[in-house]
Amino acid sequence: MKIIRETSELQKVLSCEGNGTTGFVPTMGALHDGHISLVKKCRTECNVTVVSIFVNPTQFNDPDDLKNYPRTPEKDIELLDKAGVDILFMPEIGEIYPEEDTRVFSFGQLDTVMEGERRPGHFNGVAQIVSKLFDIVQPDRAYFGEKDFQQLAIIRALVRKLGYDIEIIGCPIKRDSDGLALSSRNALLTPEQRAAAPDIYKTMRDAVGLKDKKTVAELCKWVTDRINENPQLEVEYFTIVDSLTLQPVSDWNEEGEKYGCIAVSTGNVRLIDNMKFS
Ligand code: PAF
Repeated sequence: MKIIRETSELQKVLSCEGNGTTGFVPTMGALHDGHISLVKKCRTECNVTVVSIFVNPTQFNDPDDLKNYPRTPEKDIELLDKAGVDILFMPEIGEIYPEEDTRVFSFGQLDTVMEGERRPGHFNGVAQIVSKLFDIVQPDRAYFGEKDFQQLAIIRALVRKLGYDIEIIGCPIKRDSDGLALSSRNALLTPEQRAAAPDIYKTMRDAVGLKDKKTVAELCKWVTDRINENPQLEVEYFTIVDSLTLQPVSDWNEEGEKYGCIAVSTGNVRLIDNMKFS
């Protein structure tokens, strides 16, 4: 695996790779099996697999969150090398932002709900970094986890908006054996918080089984109340949304695929998850 820190070198190396497909997995490091599943899929579908590790400051609306974000570069390098990655791009901040990125993106209603509503500027920062990385790597395909359901919708919108010829591939959520969705932030949980966290998955799973017996509003309240019974957990939102517009659904009979999306805080850590309801 080549480890590259400079854009010019990355582009030189990529230009020597010939005509095959380039697959790209952007990450912020602190890698887990969820990331590795993206890498594996990328490797089966593309000739060259490029992974980036860059903790992007512009997508953190809370400076403490940026400071505390887990960083495990040596372990990440080992994992990616073992997974058969061809190129790891690990730029320094000045390489990506030689000057401030003042671009402002608008995604209509997609970023005014859920994470967008609670983390002002977050998706603008995601759009800034993902577009910069797409410009640098110029991949044919890029792989993102479905755990970040809203991020995936916004990246698809970004690709349409900026006219990139890149296929965006969403990959299924990876879970621990107790159901907790894998996330780099899980490393920040205390043992008590970690023990409580699978309640999020279990409650949503039970809620799927109840959807014929409850209205959307009743079900949202049921999920929220049940998770909040756990003193370690506090639901920020649980909402059933249309999978394309991300707007809240109020009736099971509305057309379109419906996903339950949730954010729960436990101490200073926010956990997000989602599940298909119909
Ligand atoms: O999902 C992430 O890890 C990040 O938001 C991404 C897409 C790598 C952009 O920094």
